[in-house]
Amino acid sequence: MKVLGIMGSPRIGGNSDILLGHALAGAKEAGAEVEIVILDRKRIAGCKDCMKCNKMGVCAIKDDMAEIQKKILDAYAIIHSTPVYFWTMTAQMKAYLDRWCVFFDADWRWQKVYYPKMRGKRIGLITVCGDTNIHTADPIVHSFKSTADMTKMNWLGAVMTAAAAKGEIVNNADALRQAFELGKKAATP
Ligand SMILES: Cc1cc2nc3c(=O)[nH]c(=O)nc-3n(C[C@H](O)[C@H](O)[C@H](O)COP(=O)(O)O)c2cc1C
Repeated sequence: MKVLGIMGSPRIGGNSDILLGHALAGAKEAGAEVEIVILDRKRIAGCKDCMKCNKMGVCAIKDDMAEIQKKILDAYAIIHSTPVYFWTMTAQMKAYLDRWCVFFDADWRWQKVYYPKMRGKRIGLITVCGDTNIHTADPIVHSFKSTADMTKMNWLGAVMTAAAAKGEIVNNADALRQAFELGKKAATP
């Protein structure tokens, strides 16, 4: 069983990274193998809405998203972690999420070829905002939860936290515990 962590912040060692690390530690404790993808180190272009994927489930853009797509298919659960940038997710995370189009047909249903692996797959989210009001990240939660609801994925929930300076989240034991628990839940059948 593998739990895949998708890191959406370019700040390695920053708050999203630390929280995702705790989530994956929780998943490990529950017996999962874990892997992390740092989106900022990948080449992921924006979706072009060319609709070529609608027929075959193969994206026309040839970049690193193909290898990430395979990891998503093989994962038991996926946990995303992103800071708030201008009231939404980072550009890296948005480019990645838009490329999920490859999984769907023209009616936004899973491609037949992906349905057995994607339906019911577990998906969770961690957000960090510089603002003290964690609801600054509501649009990100809306985006991921709506994707999960539309496609009948298994929504694990969101850990929403606030921290501004790099690594400051280490002082927030409650947020670290919540992230750990999210990972544990992701890996507990
Ligand atoms: C380009 C940019 C835009 C940001 N926009 C917001 C924002 O709209 N709201 C907010 O609360 N914090 C905002 N922040 C602050 C980050 O969310 C905050 O510093 C967070 O802890 C960064 O997480 P990281 O360490 O995982 O990169 C912004 C930071 C950057 C660099």
